[in-house]
Amino acid sequence: MAARPVLIAPSILSADFGRLAEEVRAICAAGADYVHVDVMDGHFVPNLTFGPPVIKYVKAAASRPLDVHLMITNAEQTLEDYAAAGADSITVHAEACTHLHRCLQAIRGLGKRVGVSLNPATPLDVLEYVLDDVDMVLLMTVNPGFGGQAFIPAVLRKIEKLRGEADRRGLDLDIEVDGGIKADNIDVSARAGANVFVSGSGIFAEKDYKAVIARMRQRAQAV
Ligand code: DX5
Ligand code: ZN
Repeated sequence: MAARPVLIAPSILSADFGRLAEEVRAICAAGADYVHVDVMDGHFVPNLTFGPPVIKYVKAAASRPLDVHLMITNAEQTLEDYAAAGADSITVHAEACTHLHRCLQAIRGLGKRVGVSLNPATPLDVLEYVLDDVDMVLLMTVNPGFGGQAFIPAVLRKIEKLRGEADRRGLDLDIEVDGGIKADNIDVSARAGANVFVSGSGIFAEKDYKAVIARMRQRAQAV
């Protein structure tokens, strides 16, 4: 299959929340393809971030689509709120959805891009019967909950296997990786078959957002 475009999605989890709108404008101006928005409920993951009321303001500041990553239980009950707040794609965790197929259909029904995410320890098997119905699979390369953790190399085999399966099915699938992705290690995930790269601390810890996004894109495209 033809190479898929490389997309860089800075995670605002590592932004300065006191200047959130300004940070969102800065990463969009710096060349971000998506704004990655991490929603945590203190239940599915041991951390709490923000929900639709804050996302509304992120949307107002963003000139790029919002890639909303829901690390929450009972996502199905609040999908409409995230859609109304401005999510362009909504990703739910397979581990947190009792009725995963129904949840993914509900996202589709809201007219949003459909994403499903797997924790590092979750095998690809859970996607067997939903893979044809999603636009993107987000493979966590850290255990979700916090920014700044180390990339887990064991996930590389999972990326390769998923890209192989997507190709076998003839799917136009985005494979997103999230956690511990930096300019100096982005190439290994790209080589394995990922094409959407989330990075929080790898971008926001740098002074020059534009330079680091360009470096990431170039290194991922070079593989
Ligand atoms: C982790 C979040 C990530 C996080 C990544 O649970 O889903 O999006 O912000 O942060 P870094 O890039 O610092 O690992
Ligand atoms: Zn995320």
